[in-house]
Amino acid sequence: MSRFIAPWTLRSYGILGINRRNSRYIARYNPRRLFPLVDNKLKTKLTVHPAGIPTPAPIGTVAEQSQVAGLSNLLEGHAGFAIKPSKGSGGKGIIVVTGRDGDEFIKASGARLTISDLRRDVSNILAGLYSLGGKPDVAIIEELIHADPRFDRFTVEGVPDIRVIVCRGFPVMAMMRLATHASDGKANLHQGAVGVGLDMATGRALNAVQFGQTVTQHPDTGQRLDELEVPDWDALLLMAARCYEVTGLGYLGTDIVIDRDKGPQLLELNARPGLAIQVANGAGLLPRLRRIDDLSDAELSAPAEERVRLSQSWFGSVEQTVQS
Ligand SMILES: Nc1ncnc2c1ncn2[C@@H]1O[C@H](COP(=O)(O)OP(=O)(O)O)[C@@H](O)[C@H]1O
Ligand SMILES: [Mg+2]
Repeated sequence: MSRFIAPWTLRSYGILGINRRNSRYIARYNPRRLFPLVDNKLKTKLTVHPAGIPTPAPIGTVAEQSQVAGLSNLLEGHAGFAIKPSKGSGGKGIIVVTGRDGDEFIKASGARLTISDLRRDVSNILAGLYSLGGKPDVAIIEELIHADPRFDRFTVEGVPDIRVIVCRGFPVMAMMRLATHASDGKANLHQGAVGVGLDMATGRALNAVQFGQTVTQHPDTGQRLDELEVPDWDALLLMAARCYEVTGLGYLGTDIVIDRDKGPQLLELNARPGLAIQVANGAGLLPRLRRIDDLSDAELSAPAEERVRLSQSWFGSVEQTVQS
């Protein structure tokens, strides 16, 4: 007998597959002309800023190879920062520097880099090594986000981020991605981060996976993952929900980090959010998305606060237990 689950069985669990995600949700709810807004992190920052949605403060950008030599001037006075490709994804090409020692730059893992290592990264970014379709890109240098100390034993050498899927302005599913030694200061699942499914009602952990396998403890610290609870949960969902009116995208993955001093910051938006969030939650997106498909015009025009409240009552596991 095959160990693999047939697609029709997955459907009965309500798992959303890639074809249906593309045809039914992305093609239907995301106008193509809006993609450049989220496929480019610089444009995203400029779009959400006027709406009062904070993002990590930019230190500068490098757009031309001729500017690469001046990188050290740009970095002067900044002990911690992140260098990233504006059109990158999956953590590729990102270097997170948390401190300096003389001429050297130190990553959270303790690994040391020289200015030529950083210049090489920026140069590769400009050449399009990490951008969609290999197109020339711009390097963004932004301030270092400091992880909230409440996450100390839950994340290692990197800031965790919270992914919320928002459909027509309603938050439908969420997970937190915890950095591990393997993921090198980045909270990307393909780099080895742990994905923790979150209860929509409370922001508490439901289930966790690393490399697609269930885990109960953080692989580096041994911290029990079922004790994870995201603070200021309602405010965070509200920020995610508001990204709908700000961008006009009806099927959106919002990535939020919580800075120790500045609170929630929007890291990036994704118009083709991945499906692994379902594995992290041990639940399928389809039943939740169907509910959103069927909403009335009155429900759809509710303000963001009301949409968050409704989503929490529909998709929170507290409510689900009461109903079953
Ligand atoms: N300014 C920053 N400070 C600290 N860590 C960061 C910063 N920017 C990104 N990171 C880390 O890198 C990861 C990936 O960054 P992100 O901007 O989401 O790019 P990508 O599109 O490649 O996922 C984040 O989840 C976070 O862990
Ligand atoms: Mg990301």
